[in-house]
Amino acid sequence: MNLGIAGDTVIVTASSAGLGRGSAEALADEGANVVICGRDPERLESAERELAGLDGSVVGVETDITNKEDIDALVEAAVEEFGGVDHVVTSAGGVPPGGFADTTEKEWYGAFDMLVMSAVWTVKAARPNLEASDAGTITCITSTTVKEVADDLILSNAVRRSVIGLVKSLSRELAPSVRVNAVLPAAHETSRIEELVEAGVERGDHDTYEAGLQSWADDIPLGRIGGPRELGDVVAFLASDRASFVTGACVPVDGGRLASD
Ligand SMILES: NC(=O)c1ccc[n+]([C@@H]2O[C@H](COP(=O)([O-])OP(=O)(O)OC[C@H]3O[C@@H](n4cnc5c(N)ncnc54)[C@H](OP(=O)(O)O)[C@@H]3O)[C@@H](O)[C@H]2O)c1
Repeated sequence: MNLGIAGDTVIVTASSAGLGRGSAEALADEGANVVICGRDPERLESAERELAGLDGSVVGVETDITNKEDIDALVEAAVEEFGGVDHVVTSAGGVPPGGFADTTEKEWYGAFDMLVMSAVWTVKAARPNLEASDAGTITCITSTTVKEVADDLILSNAVRRSVIGLVKSLSRELAPSVRVNAVLPAAHETSRIEELVEAGVERGDHDTYEAGLQSWADDIPLGRIGGPRELGDVVAFLASDRASFVTGACVPVDGGRLASD
């Protein structure tokens, strides 16, 4: 599909793997210039290499998104490389799984930095460029847990909802120059899902890794877990002018998993 975003510049946070990488791939496939980031330089370089053949340029910047200075430097690098920023896509690392009794105060604050402040810092740093663009958008990758809680994911269940408050508020405050939306993945094949399945096996919820993975698929009407690109394609659409009247939306990309509207 031609989304009309060729030549636009996009920053995708936490994007050397998983859903961020799937989004970077979809955007670069449409000809956008994409700045990806992550902490591990080898993982980042290999993502940069793998995405190099697509229509848009892809540049990796080593970044820890729980560190404000790193995020400021990420945005500066994007402006230096491509002359501006038209779109921001925020993804993040996973936060520790577990129930209320398992989590420490330090983990609660850590989850807040990882999921909420990383998005706040990115938007704050990129806002002048987004407002100067004639196509500015922000798309936050969150989770279906913002609508229906999942067992043994208390930090994601509780903390991520702030990102939806941020998205809804920004969609009003930054209108009409910047559109702001969220996508809500359920289960997509990434190392995060591997981690959650392994935690379930360790807790004794499932006998094997395969049984654990199947239980995620069984919960999804389409009968399978998604791929990272299936999330990325929706992210690319929301960033494009094809979604020009969509702002403040929370779009599930979940194979029908959410039972509520
Ligand atoms: N996969 C799913 O089905 C699913 C469903 C709902 C919600 N989510 C949520 O969506 C987000 C992304 O999940 P995912 O599946 O893409 O995870 P993933 O496959 O584990 O990938 C995470 C990416 O984030 C980077 N990252 C982690 N911590 C970082 C940090 N502090 N600074 C910069 N980059 C960082 C990782 O690179 P480095 O480790 O090298 O930094 C990697 O590139 C997570 O918050 C996850 O909980 C995922």
